[in-house]
Amino acid sequence: MPVEQTLSIIKPDGVQKNLIGEIYDRFEKAGLEVVAARMMQLTKEQAEGFYAVHKERPFFNDLVSYMTSGPVMVQALAGDDAIAVYRKIMGATNPAEADTGTIRADFAESIEENIVHGSDAAETAANEIAYFFTDEGVCPRTR
Ligand code: CMP
Repeated sequence: MPVEQTLSIIKPDGVQKNLIGEIYDRFEKAGLEVVAARMMQLTKEQAEGFYAVHKERPFFNDLVSYMTSGPVMVQALAGDDAIAVYRKIMGATNPAEADTGTIRADFAESIEENIVHGSDAAETAANEIAYFFTDEGVCPRTR
């Protein structure tokens, strides 16, 4: 299995519900290591840039409003097969379709407010990590 990094965001609803610790616990129990982390209040420009791939979608403006509605917790996660492992514990984008016991099934209200974000592929993960962290901001474990 490849050692990978992936980008995770605990979205404003997750921070509001005080779930940072609960969600970090799930990362760690799944064997994922937090190798970078920062709490941020995203600007409109930062949210629009991050989700630029969705800019023609009908939900884009609501998505930007939601992502700027409160602080987010952004982290890079590392581990064997980290992209797939994280996507499995997040559950489907729509919490109504998410497997039992996943983060979204347990905590998300709707497809719009779905608690967490995760990268969908290796190239996206590299771009998304670089969007929020410099190389020096990512600290792979040395012990
Ligand atoms: P995320 O995985 O961060 O990627 C895009 C986000 O857009 C998604 O989670 C949701 O927060 C939001 N979104 C809102 N409506 C939809 C939709 N119909 N399909 C996909 N994503 C949506």
